[in-house]
Amino acid sequence: MEQEVKKINSVYFDDKTEEVLSSLEKTRAEFWNLDRECANFLNTLIKINNSKNVLEIGTSNGYSGIWILEALKETKGKFTTIEFWEKRQSVARKNFALCVPEVFCEPKIGSAVVVLEDILEEIQKNKRQKFDFVFIDANKKEYIEYFKLVDKMLIDGGVILADNILSHYEKVKDYIETLFNNPEYQSQILDFGTGMMLSRKTKKACV
Ligand SMILES: C[S@@+](CC[C@H](N)C(=O)[O-])C[C@H]1O[C@@H](n2cnc3c(N)ncnc32)[C@H](O)[C@@H]1O
Repeated sequence: MEQEVKKINSVYFDDKTEEVLSSLEKTRAEFWNLDRECANFLNTLIKINNSKNVLEIGTSNGYSGIWILEALKETKGKFTTIEFWEKRQSVARKNFALCVPEVFCEPKIGSAVVVLEDILEEIQKNKRQKFDFVFIDANKKEYIEYFKLVDKMLIDGGVILADNILSHYEKVKDYIETLFNNPEYQSQILDFGTGMMLSRKTKKACV
């Protein structure tokens, strides 16, 4: 006899956070947020990898950020996120403070490539640690530029998750080909949501 399988979200959010997430889900299309399934996957991945220093490129109103912060609460990590739209970033800041105030969060305003160059400079001057997990979800045409910078700021064994890989295939094709042809990365395309590419760095890169 066939039984209906119910999808149960394994993350426990308090009432306040659940309320914020449900409210953000109503405007998901406008703010280009992940769906709950992908957000749950992102959250699980950070926990599995025990990531402690996570970078997000593309904050929007903070929907995915809340899921990242919830994972970092468990791994006792910290979060940096980049957005060039000030209005969105300020909504995200409020959401982070409301839902996960206990996790250190550094929202950065500005064009992703410029902010990434600044971050890289700080890493090279030993003023900042390398990241162990990067979530790419901003301008699809720039994914390849993000990768060139992110590669230099990711630890050996670090993970990159990139969204919209199948929905924006033509725009991110150079990113996909570069990752698949890079012997320092083990990569896999995941066919759910809008399509994600999961890549793990396997060798030390020179900074
Ligand atoms: C797909 S949305 C991010 C959604 C978010 N990760 C979530 O799931 O809740 C992409 C965001 O990146 C921002 N963005 C696009 N291009 C950017 C750039 N070059 N620099 C910084 N932010 C950018 C957009 O304003 C938008 O808010």
